[in-house]
Amino acid sequence: MLNFTFKNPVKLIFGKDQLDQLKNEVPAYGKKVLLVYGGGSIKKSGLYDKVMTILKDINVEVHELSGVEPNPRITTVRKGVDICKTEGIDFILAVGGGSVIDCTKAIAAGAKYDGDAWDIVIKKAEVKAALPFGTVLTLAATGSEMNSGSVITNWETQEKYGWGSPLTFPQFSILDPENTFTVPKNHTIYGMVDMMSHVLETYLHQGTNTVLQDRMCESILQTVIETAPVLLENLEDYEARETILYSGTIALNGMVSMGIRGDWATHNLEHAVSAVYDIPHAGGLAILFPNYIRHVMNENVGRVKQLAVRVFGVDPEGKSDEEAALEGIQKLSDFWSSLGAPSRLADYDIDESKIEVMADKAMANGEFGNFKKLNRDDVLAVYRASL
Ligand code: NZQ
Ligand code: ZN
Repeated sequence: MLNFTFKNPVKLIFGKDQLDQLKNEVPAYGKKVLLVYGGGSIKKSGLYDKVMTILKDINVEVHELSGVEPNPRITTVRKGVDICKTEGIDFILAVGGGSVIDCTKAIAAGAKYDGDAWDIVIKKAEVKAALPFGTVLTLAATGSEMNSGSVITNWETQEKYGWGSPLTFPQFSILDPENTFTVPKNHTIYGMVDMMSHVLETYLHQGTNTVLQDRMCESILQTVIETAPVLLENLEDYEARETILYSGTIALNGMVSMGIRGDWATHNLEHAVSAVYDIPHAGGLAILFPNYIRHVMNENVGRVKQLAVRVFGVDPEGKSDEEAALEGIQKLSDFWSSLGAPSRLADYDIDESKIEVMADKAMANGEFGNFKKLNRDDVLAVYRASL
């Protein structure tokens, strides 16, 4: 294990009817609240009305920023920052999925910065302060509800980057499985692929003696594998939604990655694809991840074999490590396909015409990845294998 210091200050409020807790949480932060949400799912589901009723009951002044895009854009962040600065907002409440929460994190930091919020995303400016914010999560996927990370897209320059600061953890996050009942089948699938990918990014490391971390990662993967078919059979299965919601949070709140330097190459590869084509983040991951692992597995084939045997039930008897590892990767790919996730870039009508552009984006900060340092040839090889 690597040395580590762990701190996660997010107050996690989980379970049925927990929305009422807004009454106890919000007043501590002031009177002027900016409510941030997406393209309208919370209005259709009735959650918007419930939140507004509570905010009215506690007598806060509510301003709104709606229309946060999936793959949230810096232009929307700027709108939010303007509202915060003009209106003197005290607290931001994000109600939505990872995109709404990520946008809120950038608004929170941008509101306390004199320049353009994009400086924060590209790490030209250090976050020295941020407005406090809380979240009501509606989609199990990113873990953004309990981490300090955020991913923002600049559509004009076709750039999409992750950033984060110890000052951009939510103050609290409210997770009621019922608020995820209305997530459509495709986004339910993407969410499960995303949380599994976060665990895989952690699992693909070159450290030693990560006995407990490995077992925790494996148990999350197995839990999602077992629960996914049950949930897809009935999208309003409370227990399945509850299990998946909790899995998504635990997958990326730092719990399983203590003492580990995770890989995160596939996320960088994917962000470059969705910066150019605006596809759903986890649709890209489902396509890229199996091809990526095949490309790099010989950097530590024992680790990939361990994944194959322990999570995907591959029988290693009579097989080389490489054969067992390849069988496991195929099972991962088959599992995602069985859920209905895409498996080729062609599924999004992406051909090789912009493959060099995507490689430029992926290489913007030089070689990357902690399992293997990827160079431009590696990047192109993974994209080509994914066409
Ligand atoms: O915009 P609305 O109308 O709310 O609709 C959303 C959106 O169209 C809909 N949705 C959300 N909750 C719903 C619902 N529809 C019906 N009922 C509900 N309860 O689902 C669509 C997708 O939402 P989005 O927030 O974009 O999905 P997700 O949570 O997967 O977030 C994706 C973004 O997070 C970033 C991704 O790159 C992408 O930009 N990531 C953030 C991370 C982090 N902060 O830690 C890590 C991840 O790896 C990821 O990169
Ligand atoms: Zn992700």
